[in-house]
Amino acid sequence: MRYYFAPLEGLTDAIYRRLHHKFFPGIDRYYTPFISPTAHRVLTPKEQRELPPADQLDYVCIPQVLTKHSEDLLWFAEQCADLGYTEINLNLGCPSGTVTAKGKGSGMLKDPDALDRFLDEVFYRCPIALSVKTRIGFAEPGEFDRLLQIFNQYPICELIIHPRVRAQFYNGPVEKTVFEKALADTTNPLCYNGNLCTKADIEAIRKSYPQVESVMLGRALIADPGLLTDGGSDAQILEAFHDALLEQYIENFGGARNAMFRMKENWHHMLCKFENADKLGKQLRKTTDIAEYRHITREIFNTLPLRKDIQPVW
Ligand SMILES: Cc1cc2nc3c(=O)[nH]c(=O)nc-3n(C[C@H](O)[C@H](O)[C@H](O)COP(=O)(O)O)c2cc1C
Repeated sequence: MRYYFAPLEGLTDAIYRRLHHKFFPGIDRYYTPFISPTAHRVLTPKEQRELPPADQLDYVCIPQVLTKHSEDLLWFAEQCADLGYTEINLNLGCPSGTVTAKGKGSGMLKDPDALDRFLDEVFYRCPIALSVKTRIGFAEPGEFDRLLQIFNQYPICELIIHPRVRAQFYNGPVEKTVFEKALADTTNPLCYNGNLCTKADIEAIRKSYPQVESVMLGRALIADPGLLTDGGSDAQILEAFHDALLEQYIENFGGARNAMFRMKENWHHMLCKFENADKLGKQLRKTTDIAEYRHITREIFNTLPLRKDIQPVW
């Protein structure tokens, strides 16, 4: 089984990916959060930081693109090819209202004919491999039959399926039956994504779908960064990873306050790994003082017992 770290906007930036790989090896691929190319045809400084030349990375990174314009995707693919990347991933899953209102992300699932035209324009002209990360529909799962027919017409190097519709965002039940149907009918390799939180969850996928060769995990890896690493997450390595992230964010953001707020996003998930985290978790959320923040995080790592399996808050 290959393990992929899902793209998580606001969480898995280049700093996070590099340090995660350093402290917790064992992930086969990391996907960048979505990048939206614009008509200006330049990668912004932030995008350039997200996409250093591929040979400078010691992990496998797949840039993700969010666009409904074929020319923009092809331009982006060329930039990525020049930087040494061998694959890009198309985002057909983003549920955000501002994105779908523009007909992008999962908004592209609303109009299957337009999606078909888009894919027709990009495949065969794309200079590097193209994978797709999709939901199973915009409004309801029945839409996936038609969508899969479309996907089957193209040599998608991997179709990553998050079996929810747009309206569910990231909550509620995943539609395993739709994934099963896709497995039976797909002509492209499939990757499963959604609500895998423990090794037992992954084992269940392996058993139920032996033909699936890859799974993608997002929130559970933020909560338990060592979930897929031999030896797992112990408090010492979690603390070292946390501290390295914090220091790197302080350096990059040019100040501690923003770095601390950035780390609080991680803590929303990371607290799921600790028992009895209510009191310290509350203090952590409240503080705006970096010295106090450091004190609270030290307390968490050094006094709270770690759970074997996370208790998700999502
Ligand atoms: C905060 C957040 C940001 C996300 N950003 C992206 C993104 O940039 N691109 C994308 O394809 N999916 C994005 N997703 C979806 C995840 O990649 C993944 O499909 C989803 O979290 C389900 O997997 P999980 O249950 O393992 O977390 C995001 C999800 C969350 C919660």
